[in-house]
Amino acid sequence: MSKTDTAATATGALDITDTRTGKQYTAAILEKGTEGDTAVRATDLRAIKVEADEFGLMTYDPAFMNTASCKSAITFIDGDKGILRYRGYPIEQLAEKASFLEVAWLLRHGELPTQPEYDKWVHDITYHTYVHENIKTFLGGFRYDAHPMSMLCSTVAALSSFYPSAKNIMDPAEREISIVRLLAKMPTLAAFIYRHGKGLPFIYPDNDLSYTENFLSMVARMTEAKYEASPVFNRALEVLFILHADHEQNCSTSAVRAVGSSQVDPFSAIAAGVAALYGPLHGGANEQVLRMIEHIGHPKNVPGFIDEVKSGKSQRLMGFGHRVYKSYDPRAKIVKQLADEVFKQVGMDKDLEIALELERVALSDDYFVQRKLYPNVDFYTGLIYRSMAFPTEFFTVLFAVARTAGWLAQWEEMLLDKEQKIARPRQIYVGPAERRYEGSLEYRKGAELGKRKGG
Ligand code: CMC
Repeated sequence: MSKTDTAATATGALDITDTRTGKQYTAAILEKGTEGDTAVRATDLRAIKVEADEFGLMTYDPAFMNTASCKSAITFIDGDKGILRYRGYPIEQLAEKASFLEVAWLLRHGELPTQPEYDKWVHDITYHTYVHENIKTFLGGFRYDAHPMSMLCSTVAALSSFYPSAKNIMDPAEREISIVRLLAKMPTLAAFIYRHGKGLPFIYPDNDLSYTENFLSMVARMTEAKYEASPVFNRALEVLFILHADHEQNCSTSAVRAVGSSQVDPFSAIAAGVAALYGPLHGGANEQVLRMIEHIGHPKNVPGFIDEVKSGKSQRLMGFGHRVYKSYDPRAKIVKQLADEVFKQVGMDKDLEIALELERVALSDDYFVQRKLYPNVDFYTGLIYRSMAFPTEFFTVLFAVARTAGWLAQWEEMLLDKEQKIARPRQIYVGPAERRYEGSLEYRKGAELGKRKGG
């Protein structure tokens, strides 16, 4: 790191004085994104040292509050302005006009598909929806009350054992078929898991139906020869899948990228994403929102509950707050409108009043205003899913089916990025300095006994 580093490509530089040594350094601001994000290279700071043989200065950033782990051309979020775009297209326009599989193509390829590209994509995904019969036996091993996300995580990981050639991740043809298989089979796995929980026979995919219609058919079909999904439910699911399809470097996507960076097969990497999504602070929040609303029980209890949240007596207000959005989550706005459409069809959800009151009270309360805590995507999705008769513990599975599109696009982008290597953060070691191993386990046991006897 020197003045010469600030040559042509840099957009500026930082002059740094190390007060320990009085030495001066210049760190070039080499990285600049389309929307103005800037960064210095963390490894440039390694030149800053007191002793020539030491490791050099690191950055300390628990939970990656201010670290760009990659360059990505997939999704853009402006958290202050409440903007979300996939490959440059505003989420509002995609939610209104696109199909989920069109969005999945866009996320992966960077451009909207032509008609022939789209037809082939839909055809390929439709014809890979079946899973090996042994998956049914595998699912049969779970207890009837196993959490659907535990089952999903394990079955996605198990798929890796059915496709051993998927580990040839540098072969474009292998990547293509793995991506198609994962997008095609996730709804089948999710529906089989739903049916296992209910003790119902599995319904095989119907290749005449669209992606979301087929999913609803595998979930809900009983004795009818052909399942006809409610158009309102079908469109609602399509929109929710689009809203959940990607969200740049969130916890589960970072998990997929980190695990994928070891060059494991994509089924195993996606299983890591499912595990990360399961947590209540991430995708598991949609389940927790419903549990919280049920616990509150009545709009009149909302102010008391908010007081408990603020004083730390209760859990956080689930479905509120976001690491990146510091204004209204644009997805939450769309979900709220969607809820109105679904409730028109099935009648008002009994707990909508509680949710609306929670939002009203929180958004006029200093605690939430000062911390810029607004409803996130998970706040209203649960109410929609419940009105579609999905059980509460199943909500995060629906999120996972949709997010698979983003995970796969991000996984492939990571693999093809020449700057990426195996993910391997550093640490600041705060344990004991070197010390001597005295005696042996036997010796220490004797000494301990001696102490207890007062010897
Ligand atoms: N309820 C009450 N207080 C909150 C909440 C909340 N939901 N979220 C953040 N805070 C407070 C937090 O206590 C802290 O206060 P203080 O400065 O006094 O210590 C301040 O706001 C900043 O919180 P943080 O934990 O530093 O923020 P973060 O960026 O690490 O956390 C979050 C982001 C989403 C994990 C958090 O807002 C949260 O736990 N929300 C509830 C769970 C949830 O809805 N998750 C879904 C997120 S959106 C979909 C997805 O990603 O899957």
